[in-house]
Amino acid sequence: MSGLFITLEGPEGAGKTTNREYLADQLRQAGIDVVLTREPGGTPLAERIRELLLAPSDEAMHADTELLLVFAARAQHLAEVIRPALARGAVVLCDRFTDATYAYQGGGRGLSQPRIAQLEQFVQGELRPDLTLVFDLPVEIGLARAVARGRLDRFEQEGRGFFDAVRTTYLQRAAAEPQRYRLVDAAQSLEQVQHQLDGLFPELLERCSRG
Ligand SMILES: Nc1ncnc2c1ncn2[C@@H]1O[C@H](COP(=O)(O)OP(=O)(O)OP(=O)(O)O)[C@@H](O)[C@H]1O
Ligand SMILES: [Mg+2]
Repeated sequence: MSGLFITLEGPEGAGKTTNREYLADQLRQAGIDVVLTREPGGTPLAERIRELLLAPSDEAMHADTELLLVFAARAQHLAEVIRPALARGAVVLCDRFTDATYAYQGGGRGLSQPRIAQLEQFVQGELRPDLTLVFDLPVEIGLARAVARGRLDRFEQEGRGFFDAVRTTYLQRAAAEPQRYRLVDAAQSLEQVQHQLDGLFPELLERCSRG
């Protein structure tokens, strides 16, 4: 038996965290075993790595250190949560995954995509998400939402160029593999965004039943 691996991606303030419960509830109402989780994090140890990654600090974090911490957390998360859940046939709904590494450490920090792909292969083997919802919106709208939400983390303190590169990377990846990605217009009102998610739901259910 093998489950279904769905990831939610997109920049700061796009609404991933706001909408993940909505999606999980819809799937559960259809009788599906859903594991809702997030990255970086998803296990106690990986959440400690998340704190290292997000906390602003006086010592600048080298981009390679950041990349390796992201994948270290991911290795733990895969071993403890994601692989066991998929093995029992559950749907794993994950708030950010390796597309975020390509977008932030690749696009944002400028690390080489082939280097990231090597680590992806090392940590994940052949495992890739079955479906990725990209919440897309103009950079300034997302940042304004993040600012309104409160204190900014280490990534949210980056400049405009960083977030332009994050968005561009997500859109390029979605365009390159349209069978895996679905774009959500995240600039719309929450009600309209959830209406878009409702539109995706029949396909989600169909994929879940195919397992
Ligand atoms: N469609 C929307 N319209 C207006 N505000 C929204 C919408 N979706 C989410 N928000 C608000 O924007 C803020 C950011 O949303 P959320 O935390 O879900 O984003 P996120 O994609 O998880 O961001 P991050 O990557 O920083 O975790 C929250 O305060 C949320 O209430
Ligand atoms: Mg979030």
